Amino acid sequence: MQAPTTRRHALTLAAATLAGLAAPAMAQDNVFKIGLILPMTGQQATTGRQIEAAARLYMAQNGDTVAGKKVQLIVKDDTSLPDQTRRLAQELIVGEKVNVLAGMGITPSAMAVAPLATQSKTPLVVMAAATSSITEASPFVVRTSFTLPQASVALADWAPANGVKTVVSLVSDYGPGIDAEKFFNARMVNNGAKVIESLRVPMRNPDFAPFLQKVRDLKPDALFVFVPSGAGAAVMKQFAERGMDKAGIRLIATGDVTDDDQLNDMGDVALGVVTSHHYSAAHPSDMNKKFVDAFQKANKGLRPNFMAVGGYDGMRVIYEALKSTKGAGGGETLLNAMKGQIFESPRGKIYIDAQTRDIVQDVYLRKVERKDGQLWNVEFDAVKEVKDPGKTKK
Ligand code: PHB
Repeated sequence: MQAPTTRRHALTLAAATLAGLAAPAMAQDNVFKIGLILPMTGQQATTGRQIEAAARLYMAQNGDTVAGKKVQLIVKDDTSLPDQTRRLAQELIVGEKVNVLAGMGITPSAMAVAPLATQSKTPLVVMAAATSSITEASPFVVRTSFTLPQASVALADWAPANGVKTVVSLVSDYGPGIDAEKFFNARMVNNGAKVIESLRVPMRNPDFAPFLQKVRDLKPDALFVFVPSGAGAAVMKQFAERGMDKAGIRLIATGDVTDDDQLNDMGDVALGVVTSHHYSAAHPSDMNKKFVDAFQKANKGLRPNFMAVGGYDGMRVIYEALKSTKGAGGGETLLNAMKGQIFESPRGKIYIDAQTRDIVQDVYLRKVERKDGQLWNVEFDAVKEVKDPGKTKK
């Protein structure tokens, strides 16, 4: 009597094991996983908060079933430490078998993950990081944010024609800052202006005071600044405290400084500051008005910034690639379906250059103004379809 029972038990076990193995495999077939790695805590936390909110908004508006697949968003916090980004990416590729990696709050994170994207043939949609060379770090990178050369050059064309003959640059001392310094300063010189000094501040926990004191002593017509999203308010505060504006030094910057996430709390010192960038929450298009409205409704009134738009458009690029490959494509097929996409974004018309996999977009000149009691980056001019100038030298 012993044997049949044991045998029956063994058979039941085998069946259960098979079913157990088959179930996730089948589920896996119908699931499309996006591994979204972002800084949700730490110095860059506003970037994570903005991009996650935008990705969830995109999914809420467009559904979570695409080409017969259930889209699953897996959000991981890398606290903006590149070693963490790499470790999380590895886990997502090997453990979760994600179809796409996305996010990348800062350049060092994107650079840390790029080799893994290449090895595993996983498309990597860079939604925030903005150093020119990131797209060259892996053929699997597609970017929906911007590049610092792209944003800086328009301002360097505007400034000398608007009374800025001498300038000091002040940038965060890492990839995007060095790109901003290089491209802004070279273009200023090209346009007949003089760059008196190029200053770099540490990326982590910067103290701007000694640098601003130096700028005060040098007395340029303008100070040009790049700091990453989230650090702009501190620059603005110290600029005011040191009386730089009263000393006749104008502040000009990339739009990272007058970041829509923080702008409203910056106060009067921000009024009149001219910046160049690819997105303003005040961009006057129907699509943007709807985007800002929906974003604010879903996030307790939070105003979307340029990071949010990079996340929103990144999701669009992923969804459309999945649709056009009819849910069948992974890896290279999916990547190819991302290349060349052209569409209207809340920022205006954009496309993903099929050769460089980088974004081509309009860059706007904007001035901070108060409207209905709130501060906005009001666009007053645009340079159309700007390709990353960081790549044209090759
Ligand atoms: C970057 O690290 O590439 C980066 C981060 C924040 C910005 C711009 C660039 O606002």
